Amino acid sequence: MEKVVSGIRPTGNLHLGNYFGAVKSFVKMQDDYDCMFFIADWHSLTTHPKPENIQQSVRTILAEYMACGIDPQKAPIYVQSDVKETLELYLFLNMNAYLGELERVTTFKEKARKQPDNVNAGLLTYPTLMAADILQHRAAKVPVGKDQEQNMEMARKCARRFNHIYGVEFFPEPQNFYFSEKALKVPGLDGSGKMGKSEGNCIYLRDDDKTITKKVMKAVTDSGPQEPNSQKPEVIENLFTFLRIASTEDTYNYFDEKWNDCTLRYGDLKKQIAADLCSIVAPIRQRIEEYSANTELLDRIAREGADRARESASATLKEVRRIVGFRS
Ligand code: ADP
Ligand code: TRP
Repeated sequence: MEKVVSGIRPTGNLHLGNYFGAVKSFVKMQDDYDCMFFIADWHSLTTHPKPENIQQSVRTILAEYMACGIDPQKAPIYVQSDVKETLELYLFLNMNAYLGELERVTTFKEKARKQPDNVNAGLLTYPTLMAADILQHRAAKVPVGKDQEQNMEMARKCARRFNHIYGVEFFPEPQNFYFSEKALKVPGLDGSGKMGKSEGNCIYLRDDDKTITKKVMKAVTDSGPQEPNSQKPEVIENLFTFLRIASTEDTYNYFDEKWNDCTLRYGDLKKQIAADLCSIVAPIRQRIEEYSANTELLDRIAREGADRARESASATLKEVRRIVGFRS
């Protein structure tokens, strides 16, 4: 069975961008692939979180992963920092990653712009740590959202380069995996590009129905369709993206027809989106509460997940050491 791995940094609660862009794919994949999902706590250090917040943030994501439907029996969940093998591979990969290419990664450039006082080496080598996360399991597929495409390109480069330098066919080149035909970008409802924590425009899986409805009803729109069958401006297309991901095809078609014959009322469209999002989020929210209260269970899942992840990573590292010329 093909191996799959993915992770998310514990920097707050999961939002609909994380859910539809990544976690929903994790849940679907666990039945058909040999999956492992992790919480990227080392990666979160690039933005200097407070030590006293890290454990809580990790448990938050763990509970939210479970609430979304990841079944640790099928797909172990582990915490990145529990698997030290990753660090050794990170070091090996860093020896063959070059300053120029790391500086060109857009996420690095963006972060460097946003936090000019903290352009640390961890930020620069973020993609090689991510490559180590993936390659330590020799994973073939990685479910991520669109914004991770360049990091994935770096992971493939690391794999190819390692194979080339040592004349081996050891690492497979990991492929991005999307459920829909192309990468999904969950838009923001404030008229800006994507939904994201740093954009401050998120609908969270922890939000109650009232909060979700309020956020959707506030979505930016325009003065309405002017001509039949016209192209939708971006803010309206964004609302239709929500219909596409959260509603049925019939519902989508119903509103699309209304747009096309210029009878669409945005209030109705928003109410529909809010109702459909609430019915997806409500059961998840309830399970988040249940899991969050059971820290014993969460800690056991992380322990068992770490054992499985270490087993997989240590087998890879044994080979890597030998290939690089170290005693195994
Ligand atoms: P954020 O910092 O906005 O919470 P991350 O950058 O930590 O999100 O992303 C975690 C995962 O969720 C990644 O796989 C990413 O591609 C996906 N993701 C985040 N936001 C979106 C979005 N708006 N649309 C699609 N996928 C997203
Ligand atoms: N960079 C990813 C993000 O910001 C998180 C991540 C770290 C990851 N290591 C990974 C994703 C390995 C997939 C595979 O969301």
